[in-house]
Amino acid sequence: MWDWKLNICAILAICLIHNGNALSRIDPLVDSKVGLIRGLRASDGDYSMFMGIPYATVNESNPFGPSIPHPGFEDTFEAYDDSAICPQLEEFGNTIVGTLDCLHLNVYVPNTANSRNQLPVLVWIYGGGFTIGYSGRHVYGPKYLVQHNVVLVTLNYRLGPYGFMCLDTPDIPGNQGLKDQQTALRWVKNNIEAFGGDPNKITIFGESAGGASVDYQLTYGKEKLFDQVILQSGVGLCPWALKVPDESAVIKIAGHLGLPTTDVSEAVEFLAQSDVELVIAATTELDIRFKPCVEKEFEGVERFIYDYPANIKNVNVRNVPILMGYNSDERLAWYEHLTPEEYAKLNPFFEALEESFIFESEEYLKEMEAELRHFYIGDEKFSEDVKEGLVRFSSDHSFNYPVMRTLNKYLDSGAKNIYYYLFFYDGDRNFVKERLNITSPGAIHADEISYFFDVSFMDQTPTPEDQLIIDRVTTLWTNFAKYGNPTPEVTELLPVQWPVVTKDQLNYLYIDTELKVQKRNFKSRIALWNLFYKINQKYEIGYRDDDE
Ligand SMILES: *[C@@H]1O[C@H](CO)[C@@H](O)[C@H](O)[C@H]1NC(C)=O
Ligand SMILES: *[C@@H]1O[C@H](CO)[C@@H](O)[C@H](O)[C@H]1NC(C)=O
Repeated sequence: MWDWKLNICAILAICLIHNGNALSRIDPLVDSKVGLIRGLRASDGDYSMFMGIPYATVNESNPFGPSIPHPGFEDTFEAYDDSAICPQLEEFGNTIVGTLDCLHLNVYVPNTANSRNQLPVLVWIYGGGFTIGYSGRHVYGPKYLVQHNVVLVTLNYRLGPYGFMCLDTPDIPGNQGLKDQQTALRWVKNNIEAFGGDPNKITIFGESAGGASVDYQLTYGKEKLFDQVILQSGVGLCPWALKVPDESAVIKIAGHLGLPTTDVSEAVEFLAQSDVELVIAATTELDIRFKPCVEKEFEGVERFIYDYPANIKNVNVRNVPILMGYNSDERLAWYEHLTPEEYAKLNPFFEALEESFIFESEEYLKEMEAELRHFYIGDEKFSEDVKEGLVRFSSDHSFNYPVMRTLNKYLDSGAKNIYYYLFFYDGDRNFVKERLNITSPGAIHADEISYFFDVSFMDQTPTPEDQLIIDRVTTLWTNFAKYGNPTPEVTELLPVQWPVVTKDQLNYLYIDTELKVQKRNFKSRIALWNLFYKINQKYEIGYRDDDE
């Protein structure tokens, strides 16, 4: 391995001969195992950017199947472009964009990093329901995190039909997007040292579907590609994070694009040759959502998700520090702008139960639905008056309880260092709230993102209050990356010591303008769900009784 600094000097000397005043503009060059990679100096901080590095390619004859690790570069790769985006309906422009040349990652390296001063590495996996998202600086600007002397990597993975088509065939067994992530993590493990990152101090982190992805990598990954994990508002047990495979989806999409057939392989072959934007358009128009799935077993094909997360009792977490939590009002956006007519049409208790359980009878389903409904909204009709109760219910079902259940699973598996948080801060930079004009108090799903990342379209200078939150959360998260402990010492910025969770002390950090350590949040709500799942365990989708 070349020394990165020596390497830059070598290039520097050459450049100085050709251009006497190039000193300040010199581009960083890294000699990695996959070849020479040239990056750019950042203009908003003391760091370099290596963007759009391809780590894998999509198989042209089977774009829905496993990707192929990138062979590396013969010539110097110019890592200047973070615009690659996997095919999707892009949420900010509301247009269908992207190509299959999208399995890229970005590496942001503080100037202090070199082979003798290797820095801890944070690898970000974006959210977006396994349907949307991309790793570039449009949303995930590195400025706030890299100033804490960590290397930041942000990676792309395939989405929708290209990432999560799940069929009963060895060519498309499912979870291709999760396998893309794994290939990227392998790339990071093998190559990050060349950038000045510490390959033995890698923390993977993600939000929403990214959090669920982190949980899946932790639960199902067989190689040790990372050392620590952070899960923000998402785990594999979330009802939206896994789906029973449905072959009819590809038949429907092919039919929508003009090939009437009932033959799955014929439909797949047709879709493999169809324009990616048309495939995404059809998927969107038909409102089909591809998700991770439990893969069938095929000879010679390695399975990633081999069983339902609920059936996995033991996760390999004994020596893995974990930081996890969620926001105060995850599902507020669902109920904020509804008209009375829309409220009247709601059926959230029924729909939630249908999503997670198969009950023995319609009658029993109705009984369970009534219990939940009474707990959250009493005898009231659906209307603005019971908004708070509905937000609590949806948040508990979709996020809060699955996160809690996963935390308990990690504890039962022997995890020793779990740091649990709740994000309550409601400022001028809450990522989703600001965009959707939501004015009710609370932090909703994904609202914390813009306190970790310099979102390009939030161009106002943060207010002092918002800046304090940025400084706090980025210090907590990067302390965790460095020390496995978010508060190794009490400071003016972080005047509390964040204790780990134990079986009988459910400590958590309450993150708001004031930082507080509290215990057992939302306790009656969580107790209800604990009992509900105990009583109804055998009806849960995918449940398997090991004793039978
Ligand atoms: C690409 O996909 C085709 C069709 O499934 C398969 O036969 C081939 O082996 C794949 N190529 C690679 C390099 O994996
Ligand atoms: C958000 O609210 C403001 C003030 O109430 C209004 O002027 C603006 O048009 C709203 N924006 C959207 C996207 O609804």
